[in-house]
Amino acid sequence: MTRLAGRIAIITGGASGIGRAAVTLFASEGAKVLAVDRPGADLAFGDGAVETLGVDLTDTSAPATIIATALERFGKLDIVFNNAGIGVNALAADMTDEAWDRVQAVNLRAVFRLSREAIPHLIASSHGRIINTASVMAQGTDWGLAAYCASKAGVVGLTRSLALELGKHGVTVNAVMPGAIFTGMTKANFANPAIAEVWAKKSVLRRLGQPVDVARVALFLASDDGGFVTGQAIAADGGLTLRI
Ligand SMILES: NC(=O)c1ccc[n+]([C@@H]2O[C@H](COP(=O)([O-])OP(=O)(O)OC[C@H]3O[C@@H](n4cnc5c(N)ncnc54)[C@H](O)[C@@H]3O)[C@@H](O)[C@H]2O)c1
Repeated sequence: MTRLAGRIAIITGGASGIGRAAVTLFASEGAKVLAVDRPGADLAFGDGAVETLGVDLTDTSAPATIIATALERFGKLDIVFNNAGIGVNALAADMTDEAWDRVQAVNLRAVFRLSREAIPHLIASSHGRIINTASVMAQGTDWGLAAYCASKAGVVGLTRSLALELGKHGVTVNAVMPGAIFTGMTKANFANPAIAEVWAKKSVLRRLGQPVDVARVALFLASDDGGFVTGQAIAADGGLTLRI
């Protein structure tokens, strides 16, 4: 398949879960990919179309390093998939400033900073794309998720604003909102069959999502198929959020 033939993509959180599935899927569709994750993360892909970079996205210099690496290895940039994220579970009454700040730094601030650094290069591309991983928790909530929900609602707001500002340059900006997906972030919970069953039943498709379920939505948004879609937040949740 060649839906991303000739395209250059940066994918953050590329070592695990949704990001890892996206790296493999984008490369299989003809893209050359810079997979970014924390220093020391497992970024082995065994695919000549994939280059890797270990960097903490919250480092001040991370955006410049990431964009410079993509340009040095591939010569241009078409797609930024801001996917890395972390969770924290703490009731608002007990949340420390450090926990709050850490979640916002990875899930929201780093998304803004990498997008900003990429803008001139995406404008120069005739297929510029930003895709951000938000969450169904951008719209819903659960106990202990105040920092996470705020960060993901922020991602959706940032997505809309970037779409508005970059549309005249032909750059689309969208978010994907995963539901309950079996990944590195959730495996501690979903490895417990009782918890997995509860969340599988919440989905009208009666199963947990797999990383590729979300990666395929990102592929649609990254490809020409999604070329007239911008400023949207698309749920990939198996219908988890249908019932109120
Ligand atoms: N799994 C779910 O059910 C679910 C649901 C909704 C949204 N999401 C979102 O999906 C995205 C991907 O998460 P996942 O579920 O695949 O989890 P995951 O833990 O498997 O993958 C996240 C990756 O991000 C990387 N990362 C985190 N902080 C980083 C940093 N500071 N610098 C560089 N890399 C960093 C991690 O090392 C990890 O490899 C996240 O934004 C998450 O919030 C996941």
